[in-house]
Amino acid sequence: MAVKKTKERKVSKKKTTQLFQSPKGMHDILSNDQPFFLKIRQVGEKIADVYNFSKIDTPILEQRAIFERAVGESSEIVEKQMFAIKGKQDNELVLRPEGTAPIMRSYLQHSLGHFSQPLKLFYEGPMFRHEQPQAGRFRQFHQLGFEIIGADDPIYDAQIILLTTNLLEELKFKKTSIQINSIGCPNCRQGYKKKLVNYYRDKQSVLCADCRKRLAINPLRVFDCKNERCEGLKKEAPIMLDNLCHPCSNHFKLVLEYLDEMPLPYILNFSLVRGLDYYNRTVFEIFSDEFNFALGGGGRYDYLSQMLGGPKVPAVGVSFGIERLVEVMKVKNIEGVIVKKPKVFLIQLGNQAKRKSIKILKALYGAGIKTAEALEKDSLKAQLKAADKKRVDFALILGQREVLEDIIIIRDMKTGAQETVAINKVVDEIKKRI
Ligand code: HAM
Repeated sequence: MAVKKTKERKVSKKKTTQLFQSPKGMHDILSNDQPFFLKIRQVGEKIADVYNFSKIDTPILEQRAIFERAVGESSEIVEKQMFAIKGKQDNELVLRPEGTAPIMRSYLQHSLGHFSQPLKLFYEGPMFRHEQPQAGRFRQFHQLGFEIIGADDPIYDAQIILLTTNLLEELKFKKTSIQINSIGCPNCRQGYKKKLVNYYRDKQSVLCADCRKRLAINPLRVFDCKNERCEGLKKEAPIMLDNLCHPCSNHFKLVLEYLDEMPLPYILNFSLVRGLDYYNRTVFEIFSDEFNFALGGGGRYDYLSQMLGGPKVPAVGVSFGIERLVEVMKVKNIEGVIVKKPKVFLIQLGNQAKRKSIKILKALYGAGIKTAEALEKDSLKAQLKAADKKRVDFALILGQREVLEDIIIIRDMKTGAQETVAINKVVDEIKKRI
């Protein structure tokens, strides 16, 4: 007997170690966290409605070539972080790492330019990047994004930044800051890139291998590098703002003037370039004190449409990392959506009562009365205990006698007072009491 027990224990231990886990950097969102996610989605929808944005959903899978062209072959995202689905090489599908390029793909595919412009679209959903997981950085995460497509007026850059701060205010975030920069257009960036390459010419030996490669393919990407050695060199590097052409300089000046007009505070960050190639002119990121990750980021992308084979369509947008917003909410004790507790608990005693209970539940659910139960339990004691735990206002007790007489007991859980009512009146009686 003793030997058998040991064997059983061994088997169950083996079973535990074999339990499947979610993939690295990808998480289940359990019910404790859902109220935070729901709150962010609700606030996102409210802001979208006030600012007149319409919802768009795009597939989770897209063609790899979209991101190669839009985000850039030399970007971290395309070079190292794409999850690919095995398929034909020339039409390879990837899990989307971001939402802006797919939305522009959809805009062009469905000729959305024929609708009155600018078109304001918002979205929410999972994104995938094969990163090294750490605080606020996951392989599957969710973004809430807003895009204004078909407008190059700097007032829209200001409007997107206003929306960004409004959304954070609505979530009751305090002490957030917007860092902003302009990275010009392909014309003025040409001269700037030459200056940058010149600056780094005699510093190649200090740069990391990735940055040496970046300098040859896309010099601006050296600003994305987090390597300590490269960080130090960035400080003395020439800055884009000093090298903007007249139209870009004027555009950025107007964006800042609109922000001053509201007024909305901002911090100029000369080394902010954003890690995605489709940006031009205004780029910005949002931070919260105490956290060293960006809550959101965005900017103008007037050439993205052309990168995807379409006409020139100026646009500007922003997206937030929902998990990062949730993290701030938790640390700062900001509540998620308040989930209402059930008002009623149905107790059934005996086979006939259990059979009848499904019809009573149907009536209660149908009337929108949130009802808890423990239908697998048989004893009154166990079910009353469960009702107590749920902190309901009323327990409905259905026993053998009640079934035979077509009645049910309503027990007030606070006072312990009990009343008997006809089963077909129970919904109305409960409605009167709650
Ligand atoms: P992004 O800066 O790559 O921009 O991502 C936007 C936000 O998504 C980040 O600020 C961050 O909060 C969140 N995020 C990014 N990567 C991760 C990760 N691995 N784990 C958790 N959160 C993450 C874009 O994606 C652009 N599409 C934004 C945009 C919209 N630009 C114009 N319109």
